[in-house]
Amino acid sequence: MKESKKTISREIGLEIGHIVGKGMFKLDHLHYGLWKKGLDPDILNLHIAQDEYCKFIIAHIPAEVKSILDVGCGAGAFSKRLVDLGYNVDCVCPTEYQNKLVEELLGGAGEVFKCKLEDIQTDKKYDMVQFCESFQYIDLDRVLDIAASLIKPGGYMLICDFFKTQPADKYGIKGGHKFDKFMELLEKSPFEILENIDITEQTAPNMDILDCATKEVMIPVADAVERFFKSRNPFILKLIKWKYRKKIEKAQKKYLQGKRTGKDFAESKTYRLFVCRKTG
Ligand SMILES: C[S@@+](CC[C@H](N)C(=O)[O-])C[C@H]1O[C@@H](n2cnc3c(N)ncnc32)[C@H](O)[C@@H]1O
Repeated sequence: MKESKKTISREIGLEIGHIVGKGMFKLDHLHYGLWKKGLDPDILNLHIAQDEYCKFIIAHIPAEVKSILDVGCGAGAFSKRLVDLGYNVDCVCPTEYQNKLVEELLGGAGEVFKCKLEDIQTDKKYDMVQFCESFQYIDLDRVLDIAASLIKPGGYMLICDFFKTQPADKYGIKGGHKFDKFMELLEKSPFEILENIDITEQTAPNMDILDCATKEVMIPVADAVERFFKSRNPFILKLIKWKYRKKIEKAQKKYLQGKRTGKDFAESKTYRLFVCRKTG
């Protein structure tokens, strides 16, 4: 699939995820939840786990930080929370849908750069640039230089995201930069690591929840819709199924046989919080 098509489907996926998540499960964020011991990994608890994720990040923001650039701010709920805590927050995000939401939420409290981080044009420098599950979307060969150019001397970069530790299974969980390559680039970059915390175990349950929702809700609903169309217009249904047969086969393999559980996540990814200081 061409990169632009991939990007469009990913952004539409995030939009649908936000509409369903907010409408049905009170979810304000587009990131994973952080499942602390004792919290039942159930979709109805996901808003609590997402809140724990925010608290975890907030607890690791260095004390001197006053201004933050929130890269890939999503629907803006986390940026707004930072504003309410007294930080000066600007956002950068390429998606029209999300930018509308974040502008409404911030109500002019911060600047919203409506573009990819790679295309940002500003002379502003921040105490901290943060990536909450947005790091993986940005070109790994460029992201550290771009971040460094936006941070004041002695300022910070915070990354909370997952990385690949194994080559992706064809029908397995996608996403994340290669961890080894990231560590190599970080070592050569103008950043020193202050904190490197592994939260894979506390984030893996998100995949079990998604896997369960797919198998117990989305697939049975799709089957029922198929039966409905079959009863109304079997010929058109046959035509559609034939036209999209490859995509249907791929989706069936991905969601029914694919390795997409929490265990698979923990075996192929590592979810980390990095707090780094810009040196030199
Ligand atoms: C998984 S969401 C995380 C959203 C938000 N940070 C949160 O924690 O809820 C990833 C975000 O990265 C944004 N994004 C994707 N590519 C980007 C890029 N090249 N530059 C900046 N943001 C990007 C997406 O539009 C989305 O807002």
